[in-house]
Parts: sequence; C-alpha cells; structure tokens
Amino acid sequence: MAMKPKAAQAAIQDPLHVIVLAAGQGTRMKSARPKVLHEVGGKPMLAHVLTAAQALDAAGIHVVYGHGGEQVQTWFDQAYPLERRVHWAPQKQQLGTAHAVAQALPQIPDGARVLILYGDVPLISIETLRALVEAGRKTLALVTVEVPQPKGYGRILRSRGQVTGIIEENDANARQKLIREINTGLMAVPAKRLKPWIAKVGNKNAKGEYYLTDIVAMAVKARLKVATVTAATVEEVEGVNDREQLARMERVYQQRQARTLLQAGLALADPARFDLRGELTHGRDVHIDVGCVLEGRVELADGVRIGPYCVLKNVRLGPDTVVESHSVLEGATAGADTHIGPFARLRPGTELADQTKVGNFVETKQARVGRGSKINHLSYVGDAELGAEVNVGAGTITCNYDGANKHLTRIGDGVFVGSNSSLVAPVTIGEHATIGAASVITKDVPADGLTLCRAREQKTYAAWKRPQKKVKR
Ligand code: UD1
Ligand code: CA
Repeated sequence: MAMKPKAAQAAIQDPLHVIVLAAGQGTRMKSARPKVLHEVGGKPMLAHVLTAAQALDAAGIHVVYGHGGEQVQTWFDQAYPLERRVHWAPQKQQLGTAHAVAQALPQIPDGARVLILYGDVPLISIETLRALVEAGRKTLALVTVEVPQPKGYGRILRSRGQVTGIIEENDANARQKLIREINTGLMAVPAKRLKPWIAKVGNKNAKGEYYLTDIVAMAVKARLKVATVTAATVEEVEGVNDREQLARMERVYQQRQARTLLQAGLALADPARFDLRGELTHGRDVHIDVGCVLEGRVELADGVRIGPYCVLKNVRLGPDTVVESHSVLEGATAGADTHIGPFARLRPGTELADQTKVGNFVETKQARVGRGSKINHLSYVGDAELGAEVNVGAGTITCNYDGANKHLTRIGDGVFVGSNSSLVAPVTIGEHATIGAASVITKDVPADGLTLCRAREQKTYAAWKRPQKKVKR
C-alpha cells in the first residue's frame, strides 16, 4: 500500500520506533529456553510481536534482551536471514520496565514516536496498535482493559474520567485493588517526552524496581491528557508468565485461526481439536477430521479429505486426495485423486502422481511414484523412482542403504513386484517385469517376463513331527 505524500512526510519527520521488552527471566516457565522463544502456533512469541511491529512500518525495532539473549539472536538470524532491522539492546540486570526502556533509548532519535511492546504478549492485534500509535502522537497513550480479576496488574487511576496515574499491585491500597481497569503495559509516546521522564524514574517502591508506569504521573504533572485505547479483547493483551498461560494463548490462537478458516469454507470436524502451526491454503470442500496437526506450509486442493489424527508438515495435496487416519506426511506432494493411509508415513521427497495409492504401514522417502501406482501394505520405498501403474506387493523393501551410501531403485511402468521382495539398490527393473514373491533382487531386471530369486523348490517332509511339551511327572 503506497503512503499518501503527507503521511509519508510525517513518517520521515517523526519516525516510529518500537521497543520490545524481552529481558524478563521467565522463571515461572521453568525452562532453559528464554521465555519469548516459547511458541504459540509454531512461532516464538517474539516472532508474533515482531510481525505486528513490522506491519506498522516501524523505522526501527529495538529488542531489549537479557537472559538467553544469544539464543534469541541466533533464532532471529535463522528465522529472518535477510532482515537486519532489529537493534539489540542488552539489559544486564532486570531492574524494571523503565530501566529496560532506558537501554533502547540511546538508539532512538529525539523526534521519533515510540511504541512500547512486550515480547511475552503475543496476540496483540494490529488494529489496537494502530489506534495506540495514533493516540500517542502528541501525548502519552496507554492500552487498558477491564478484567474481572485484576490481581497482579497495575491499576489505572482516574479522576473525573481522566487518567491520573498507575498504581502497581504491590503498592496499591485496598480500595485501589478493587479497580478493574488495568494497565496492559503497551504504550505510545513521543521520544522527546519519554527521554526526560525515564531519566527521572526512581525505584522507591515495594519491589525496588524502576517502574515504567511512573511516567504516567509525570505526564499528568506536565499537564498532558493521558490517552487510553481499549483493547478489543482481553486475550490480545494477555501476557504469558507460565506454561498454563502459554497453553491458554495457544488455544486462543488456534480458535481464532479455526474460525477464520471455517468462514473461508474449510470444513473442520471440530474446531477445538484442530492445530495449525504454520500456514494453510485450501480449496473448496476440504474436510479435516479431528485431532490433526498441520505444520509449516500446507496446501490442500479442492475436495481433499484428511482423516482423524494425521500430521501434515510442508505438504501439498492435489484435488480429491484422501488421507486416512493416523498418517504422517512431511515434505511430500501428491497429485489428484490419490489415496494415502491409514497409517502411512510419507517422508521428505515423496512425490505421488495422480491416482496413486500408499496404504497402511508403508514408509516412503525420496520416492517418485508414477500415475496409478500402488504400494498398498507394509513396505519401505526409499530413494526410488516408480513409473506408472506399478504394483508393489506387501512387504517389499527397497534396500537403499549399504551401510555407507544410499542408492537408487528404478522401477519401470507396469512392473509387478511380488510380496516380500527385497530390491537391493542400485537396481533397475525393466518395464512390465514381474518379480516373484520373496525374491532378493541384486541385479538389474530386464523388461517383461518373470524374474525370481529364491530357494528353488518347495519341499514337504511328511514324517516330520512338531516338538512336544515335556510332561512333568
Ligand atoms: C507490568 C506493568 C503493569 C502491567 C503489567 C501487564 C510496570 C512497572 N508494571 O507489570 O502495570 O499491568 O506489566 O502485564 O511496568 N521486562 C524487562 N526488563 C525488566 C523488567 C521487565 O525486559 O527489567 C519485560 C518483561 O520481560 C516483560 C515486561 O517487561 O515482557 C513486563 O515485565 P513484568 O515484570 O512482567 O511486569 P509486571 O510486574 O507484570
Ligand atoms: Ca508480567
């Protein structure tokens, strides 16, 4: 979207700088991982916050980090290899939210507008942030919300409707504790106001911390009208401090996604039992049964049906393909009208052409399977190229690995592989060949005809007796 000349000019004159507070230790997570790297919908919480910041066209994003900062930066470099727009501001000791903001301020020009976000508030909506940034152009603006149980939060103090301050839980008296309008922590303010205020914040309070919230009283003293923006939902401003809250945020996120997908025409057997940890694109009349987990990029064409308890990661399925229950697909593509599972495992590099079938207890990897071919039961097909109309019998194994290297198995159009055969790669099977059951094929097989390799004759020993159990006397 192109900016109008006037708006563009304003952005240059007072650029938006976003400070993301992410230095908190996250002790209550009881984890070795920094809190902001814990995931919601398959993405670190910090990624959600950075996405929101980027959507606002911020001129600078400043992440204040503390514990596990190297891990956070390592993740960032991998997740956004081309982006260099984040400035990292270390906060060695967590002395409070005002102290955290102070670590980023030297990087921010005096003429900037500043937006303060929390790295552990993942579901903040862009609309709320836009409203906040707008409200905080000239004055201090806060996002507040009314909650039934305000315990633990900073309470918004008002007099005749106007904000007069924020009182933290530990410093609040009994009457103030009854206030249900709370500070979400998200705020916007011009840098030229913020900088002198932050310098003045002290730590004489119950926790001995430098409270960012103290700047509210300073703004009031400077005769500014403190603006407030009401969050549309409580969830969007909810912070994560422990695993229970993280799990709650995950549900909220999943329910939101499910609702959007249902509205877009995706059929979900139960939106409460659906997990998408990535991106899904789908055609018309796509049906997903209960308990499925979709990760990475998943594309499902018109009429695809996914049975219960399947896992699909980075998968593309063509029209009318059916995946039956308990199948696990990763890095695989399938054409139109294919039938997969139940209990199939498609590993990366699997490419199924139209009308193929991969049945129960079949594992495939780096396998191209031609049109109409079937691998119906109990097989391993790895590093293989199958032509069209191939029938792979139950228990067929491509022996692709010699203990050191992987080798290719090539199977021509119309081949029939008898059950329980081992195809020792590298090996090529000519078109329309038939392999007798239980063969161990170590040499290339010519086209047509029957090839088999197993003990020649079937023998019967008529006089043979089964061993008997010893009788105790
Ligand atoms: C803060 C607010 C409170 C608000 C609540 C909303 C203050 C003083 N209080 O309280 O009014 O209701 O959030 O959740 O601001 N952080 C740092 N460095 C620090 C301290 C904190 O980076 O030294 C980060 C944390 O990682 C976290 C955020 O700042 O993302 C908030 O810190 P936290 O300690 O959770 O603040 P609260 O006491 O919950
Ligand atoms: Ca908190």
